[in-house]
Amino acid sequence: MEQVPLDFLGELRRTHHCGELRAADAGKRAIVMGWVHRRRDLGGVLFLHLRDREGVTQIVFRADGDPAVHAKADMLGPEYVIAVEGLVDLRSKDTINPAIPTGGVEIVCEKLHILNTSKTPPFPMDENVDVKEDARLKYRYVDLRRPQMQRNIILRSKITFEIRKVLIDQGFLEIETPFLGRSTPEGARDYLVPSRVFPGQFYALPQSPQIFKQLLMVSGFDKYFQIARCFRDEDLRADRQPEFTQIDLEMSFPQQEQIFEVIEPLVVAACKVAGYAVSAPFPRLTYDQAMRAYGIDKPDLRIPQFHCVEDLFAGEGLTADGMPLVVIRIPNVGAVSRKERDDLKAYGQEKGLRVFDDMKRLERDFPAQMAKVRELVSAQEDDLLLMAGWGGELKGQRPDYTMLAACGQLRLQAAQRYADKHKAFDAKDFRFLWVLDFPMFEWDEEESRWNAAHHPFTSVLDTDIDKLESDPAHCYAKSYDLVLNGTELGSGSIRIHRQDIQSKVFAALGLSQEEARKKFNHLLEGLEYGAPPHGGIALGLDRLVMILAGETSIRDVIPFPKTAKATDVMCEAPSEVPDKSLRELGLSLRKQ
Ligand code: AMO
Repeated sequence: MEQVPLDFLGELRRTHHCGELRAADAGKRAIVMGWVHRRRDLGGVLFLHLRDREGVTQIVFRADGDPAVHAKADMLGPEYVIAVEGLVDLRSKDTINPAIPTGGVEIVCEKLHILNTSKTPPFPMDENVDVKEDARLKYRYVDLRRPQMQRNIILRSKITFEIRKVLIDQGFLEIETPFLGRSTPEGARDYLVPSRVFPGQFYALPQSPQIFKQLLMVSGFDKYFQIARCFRDEDLRADRQPEFTQIDLEMSFPQQEQIFEVIEPLVVAACKVAGYAVSAPFPRLTYDQAMRAYGIDKPDLRIPQFHCVEDLFAGEGLTADGMPLVVIRIPNVGAVSRKERDDLKAYGQEKGLRVFDDMKRLERDFPAQMAKVRELVSAQEDDLLLMAGWGGELKGQRPDYTMLAACGQLRLQAAQRYADKHKAFDAKDFRFLWVLDFPMFEWDEEESRWNAAHHPFTSVLDTDIDKLESDPAHCYAKSYDLVLNGTELGSGSIRIHRQDIQSKVFAALGLSQEEARKKFNHLLEGLEYGAPPHGGIALGLDRLVMILAGETSIRDVIPFPKTAKATDVMCEAPSEVPDKSLRELGLSLRKQ
């Protein structure tokens, strides 16, 4: 490669960024700096697009310009870093570019400083180039220059700032909690960090600041928040990363509604930053209502709810005794082929459902009931209707939930299949809702025991305290999720602040006092020193930004994310470490 002579930055100061100049600046002198985005040679006249974080400015090297400057410009390659000094000029009418804010002007280059060269980038910096994610992650520093990623990361910064502002304006204090803590698994596996000073002992990275924020309430720091990095060693999906960021907060003496009153303006403000107007309050549904209308605890409100009609068909044998009978409606689907119907039926049947797709036949057999069904679901000519009863085994503690969940999956499957026709999944239609009063416990079929559905520090509804021992399947919790278009954005609860109730919950979870003390001693002791009633929530910042940026993977709103296998292909982490480091930590590796 030809040796390109490089200039020093020296005393040179930038006067404008690359998105700044307008027609009104014509005649001014300007110094701009950035990356060579694109170049066009038009027989003696050279045009460059110079790019920085704020935009692109056109630089022109005219045919009658200084030949030495021209010769230097000829050496420029893509992504070279340069500084340009010159006069701002209006572009000729036929070269005005209305698509960019600086499209009316150009800088006529008088001095060119080449500050650095660049290897040919692994992929172009353009918006619409389809680049494999592996390459994007390996050269992330280059990928982050692309307009889409620049927009996303800038949006993230602005949203984070706005959230801090809303919370601080509401009297919240930003307080940090440790990264190196005790292993207290909350659901996922912990990332462990070996201690050098105590060989054989480990810290754990926090899965969330849950226990610390509760202890901060014991300490009297009512209204805490933190933009908190959390670490979970769990299976990854498009909306899950091993390290991610929560907007974590906790309040003392709160009513559940007061927590919603903090979060709603925060979310409205975040949407506004992204250019969207949403209005609060958000609808509220209990978990049972959500299950009986959507078959899922994170319903996507852009698709119509389903309806439970077992009462209309009592004794007709369409569903198992005591089980729901569900009518699903997907609007504007039009004609559906036999094969498509059979596919949907097979999908439902695999999940234990009895799917009835022949509405004409049902109408013949049950005319009065079906007239009511049509009215109830507001069925129109072009809608797809499916009815589903339960044909499978009655398993588990709440077979009704199992069946409703299967109907929820069938509803989503049908909606996704005909998404183009009913145009329901408009990414800019933000339908927030709160889901409340979740079941307190989930039955673990494998282990034959109850697990905490949220976490073991969640309060049970006052009316259900007496059922903790006798009927855990029907105990509901003071817990709530914030849901947006089928994604769980956040989750929280009113906590248990009393030792006696915490013990009962541990007992229901099959944890003895000793085991509970071993795991959570610091929290349990803290609760004994005048813990106030308290509660809080954590929102997933990455997920919120992902949806507001119109992305479908949180990797696209995290500067340096991990792959689906939890690796960093750029830094090549995780990596082996020298034997010496292991020895210092008192560790030795066993051959797998
Ligand atoms: P939870 O475990 O539900 O609650 O987490 C809260 C929110 O954090 C986000 N989230 C994630 N985002 C990206 N990658 C992940 N692996 C990941 N896991 C969770 C989700 C989720 O809704 N301590 C409680 C909160 C509380 O009770 O105050 C907690 O962590 O958006």
